[in-house]
Amino acid sequence: MERTSEAPHSGGSPWKELLITASILSCWIQPMSAQGAAVTVVPSLSYGTVGGSIILDIQGFSGEVLSYSWYRKSVDNSNLIAAYSVSSGVQTPADIREKIFSNGSLLIPDLTLNDSDVYYAQIVNSGGLIAATARGQFTVYGPPPKPTIISTNMAPVENKDNVSLTCQAESQNITYLWFINQNPPAGDRMVLSPDNKTLTIINVTREDQGPYVCEIQNPVSVNRSDPFTLNITYGPDPPMILPTDPHYPVGATLELSCSAVSNPPAQYTWLINGTQMVSTTQNVSIPNVSLNYTGTYTCNASNSVTGLSSTTDISITISETPAKPNISANSTNILENGTLAITCSPENEGMNILWFFNNQPLSLSERMNTSEDNQTLTIKSVKREDAGSYQCEVWNLIGANRSDPLTLTVSYGPEHIMFVPNPENGEIEVKFKDPLNLMCQVGSYPPALYEWQVNGTVNSNFSSNTYVIKSVSWEDSGNYTCLAKNNVTNLSISRDITVKVVAEKSTGGGNGSSLSGGAIAGIVIGVLAGVALIGALIYFLFFRKTGGASEHHLTEHKSSAPNHSRTFSDSSPKGTDEVPYTTVNFNAQKPPAKAQSPPPTETVYSEIKKK
Ligand SMILES: *[C@@H]1O[C@H](CO)[C@@H](O)[C@H](O)[C@H]1NC(C)=O
Ligand SMILES: *[C@@H]1O[C@H](CO)[C@@H](O)[C@H](O)[C@H]1NC(C)=O
Ligand SMILES: *[C@@H]1O[C@H](CO)[C@@H](O)[C@H](O)[C@H]1NC(C)=O
Ligand SMILES: *[C@@H]1O[C@H](CO)[C@@H](O)[C@H](O)[C@H]1NC(C)=O
Ligand SMILES: *[C@@H]1O[C@H](CO)[C@@H](O)[C@H](O)[C@H]1NC(C)=O
Ligand SMILES: *[C@@H]1O[C@H](CO)[C@@H](O)[C@H](O)[C@H]1NC(C)=O
Ligand SMILES: *[C@@H]1O[C@H](CO)[C@@H](O)[C@H](O)[C@H]1NC(C)=O
Ligand SMILES: *[C@@H]1O[C@H](CO)[C@@H](O)[C@H](O)[C@H]1NC(C)=O
Ligand SMILES: *[C@@H]1O[C@H](CO)[C@@H](O)[C@H](O)[C@H]1NC(C)=O
Ligand SMILES: *[C@@H]1O[C@H](CO)[C@@H](O)[C@H](O)[C@H]1NC(C)=O
Ligand SMILES: *[C@@H]1O[C@H](CO)[C@@H](O)[C@H](O)[C@H]1NC(C)=O
Ligand SMILES: *[C@@H]1O[C@H](CO)[C@@H](O)[C@H](O)[C@H]1NC(C)=O
Repeated sequence: MERTSEAPHSGGSPWKELLITASILSCWIQPMSAQGAAVTVVPSLSYGTVGGSIILDIQGFSGEVLSYSWYRKSVDNSNLIAAYSVSSGVQTPADIREKIFSNGSLLIPDLTLNDSDVYYAQIVNSGGLIAATARGQFTVYGPPPKPTIISTNMAPVENKDNVSLTCQAESQNITYLWFINQNPPAGDRMVLSPDNKTLTIINVTREDQGPYVCEIQNPVSVNRSDPFTLNITYGPDPPMILPTDPHYPVGATLELSCSAVSNPPAQYTWLINGTQMVSTTQNVSIPNVSLNYTGTYTCNASNSVTGLSSTTDISITISETPAKPNISANSTNILENGTLAITCSPENEGMNILWFFNNQPLSLSERMNTSEDNQTLTIKSVKREDAGSYQCEVWNLIGANRSDPLTLTVSYGPEHIMFVPNPENGEIEVKFKDPLNLMCQVGSYPPALYEWQVNGTVNSNFSSNTYVIKSVSWEDSGNYTCLAKNNVTNLSISRDITVKVVAEKSTGGGNGSSLSGGAIAGIVIGVLAGVALIGALIYFLFFRKTGGASEHHLTEHKSSAPNHSRTFSDSSPKGTDEVPYTTVNFNAQKPPAKAQSPPPTETVYSEIKKK
């Protein structure tokens, strides 16, 4: 490669070296010299380069030479390049590019592609005879021009067609190299021709589009084609329908869009329940849909080039927007233990029904059940806790709507009658001129109506649950009856209490169980004090014999502690009047230590009852 046009003057390369550098492209006829050796034309380089030079040497001839003649293509006068006379050292013609040296070698400088050819040398010996004709050839290379890729199919179909790409190059003696996305071809489906000039892609896929580049290389240089992209036709793939939400309310605009991966782009048609729609566009828009637009919508995508088509279905449901349902009951004010039916009446068909109680989803008790369509809620043996606000809600996939609340009242009672205060023995003592406050309590809905009787006679002045006398007189003693009536259930209940007007209030019933340890100690002391008092009384009655002295005198000592409390117990059994008993009442707020030695102002009551 290092040869230049100066080569002819470098002189004397050894025979062996020339032999090694002989081109395989050179071929030669092997005329025998006079001595019987083969005479050949050997290029000094394996190939010529555009602009470079080359020397064609004659090898294998020995003997006297008169002249050398060089021909191109054939030994024919018309193809004579030049002749050289050894004796005169003159080349004829002399004014040409080529030069014949004295040893017969031919120098061709300023090589062009056209110089690639077969050359002949003819040697005339001293006898004037043609001693030998030798032949040799060489090729001149320039930088290869850019190759182009030619495809056998401009629109191959995916999974069906094979495509052959040929690298077209205006050049000889080149090798080919292919690149797909900058990578060499790989895989079973990429098949190269033996000369690498043609790349065949078997059964193309959409991933095979390239770009493809072919590179050519000759001994001088490389050049690459422009990237070539395959237009592979494929699809349509199964289309996708958007939006995927399948529920629409009546009156809505149904808008569906279909898209399928396809090359060239797919053509779309739509079917509703198998019937072709007028519109054949990718998107459908149906305004103001009615219920009968419920159904299966099919998008069909087709590709006229691949001849394939693909479909996808979507099930669309058109439903009415739930309107507010009506709620009703055969009674909104029901007697306890009665049976009630609450009915929900939806305005639309096909609604689901949910029941609500006091704004919470109703949990059905064992006394409740609903009809199969859930429209009727039946409550058997209604309880007072069933009173409240009832609503029904209708819902479908579009939405929900709740009824107005229906308020249910449950009438019951009267029951659990009780006086406040509630003396154990059914008797209450009121001191003369003290106020009397009786209150009667019952459980009832609606609230009970009250009637009071004294000694069996109705006192129409009192019609609430309280009976009040500001200042009792002796005649106010008696048997008081509270009668409670419910004018809805028509039930009534009554209870009696005995009111005793006393000069000095004695204690009412007491109950040891509610007393503290200190109080018990007090009672013990009280009993002892009582015994002492009784002793004193006996003394007065029997030994002093002071007539007219009464219990009243004794009890006329007024207590300095008006807040003496009385303790009653609801749990104690009735009929205590059968047993003689003693109650002692004292200021419960006093510590027991003080109770042990009450000050003189403190009065201790003691009562013995016997019947
Ligand atoms: C003939 O002479 C030229 C110029 O001197 C030289 O370059 C060439 O190598 C010679 N050829 C042989 C076969 O000696
Ligand atoms: C490739 O060939 C084009 C002409 O076909 C030429 O312009 C370009 O220089 C060449 N490139 C190389 C690297 O030889
Ligand atoms: C082409 O490939 C597809 C799947 O990739 C296969 O079903 C089909 O049979 C192949 N065709 C040929 C001719 O190999
Ligand atoms: C593609 O090439 C494969 C393998 O050479 C061959 O079997 C098949 O028939 C070819 N297909 C077509 C459509 O030419
Ligand atoms: C074809 O290319 C491969 C590499 O892709 C190479 O190994 C092989 O020698 C080439 N064949 C010819 C004839 O150039
Ligand atoms: C929608 O359709 C209903 C009948 O299906 C019709 O009564 C109503 O007027 C329509 N509304 C509009 C806005 O077109
Ligand atoms: C629904 O009914 C209307 C009129 O009743 C009709 O015009 C329309 O084509 C129907 N739509 C479908 C999808 O059947
Ligand atoms: C419930 O229904 C009434 C008509 O019955 C309607 O005006 C209202 O908008 C609906 N509410 C909802 C949340 O759909
Ligand atoms: C309400 O209807 C239910 C079932 O029909 C019936 O059993 C019940 O007696 C009715 N209740 C009233 C208060 O009418
Ligand atoms: C309901 O039944 C209970 C128990 O049987 C009874 O106590 C109550 O008085 C009844 N209620 C009415 C309003 O009849
Ligand atoms: C109730 O009867 C008693 C005796 O039976 C009597 O002392 C009392 O005054 C009567 N009370 C009234 C308010 O009539
Ligand atoms: C029950 O009594 C109340 C209060 O007196 C009255 O307003 C209501 O109308 C009565 N109801 C019936 C059903 O008699």
